[in-house]
Amino acid sequence: MLSVNIDHVATLRQARRADFPDPVQAAAMVELGGADGVTVHLRRDRRHINERDVQLLRATVKSELTIEMAASREMVGIASEIKPDQVTLVPELSTEVTTTSGLNLSRLGTRIGPVARRLKRAGIRLSVFIEPDPRQIEAAARIGAEVVELNTDAYCRERGDRAGELAKLAAAAGAARELGLAVHAGHGLDYRNVVPMVELGVADGYSIGFAIVARALMVGLREAVAEMKHILEVYS
Ligand code: PXP
Repeated sequence: MLSVNIDHVATLRQARRADFPDPVQAAAMVELGGADGVTVHLRRDRRHINERDVQLLRATVKSELTIEMAASREMVGIASEIKPDQVTLVPELSTEVTTTSGLNLSRLGTRIGPVARRLKRAGIRLSVFIEPDPRQIEAAARIGAEVVELNTDAYCRERGDRAGELAKLAAAAGAARELGLAVHAGHGLDYRNVVPMVELGVADGYSIGFAIVARALMVGLREAVAEMKHILEVYS
């Protein structure tokens, strides 16, 4: 399963405060390329994706729409109205260029329970973006998440032998499945480093953005998505 994050189409639009390129058009191309889903991160500071985008994406995306968001009252309100197929809760810092780590579910304490319940009451599948850490996986199951998205950032950043980080991800995926959770993975994945993950069957779904949008500059978005989808199919 491949969900393509199209935030950076909106990043380019916002670089000129223009009305193109349009992430809504990009979502259609992503689906034509064979993606199983479209993901966007609605940030508190609206640095790329905005409300107009999520409204139009909800009306037009025919595959699965995932909105990544902070576990804030504002975002839960927007999600409950828009009703994406899935919400992935992520930590959010105004100073970060991109998400820097998984959620620390224990640090969120009693705040996370009501957020999870509200999203589930709205009929939205709940995913949490976490580190491949057994304590976070148990906490995800406890709050009623259906999906964990394992942060692949450390694996992708490792310039030497990646076996240790890969084993950590595989062990976390096994623990999550034993608790009945679906396993997604993402952050920093590209056309090369995704291959060992797929060969090992670490995740059921992959959330990939930057590498695909960057490749799209060279070969077009539809082709860039099709190439990634092909990799996920041939190495599994
Ligand atoms: N998953 C999550 C939770 C993210 O925050 C991001 C980045 O927006 C991604 C996946 C995709 O990461 P990348 O753009 O590096 O493929």
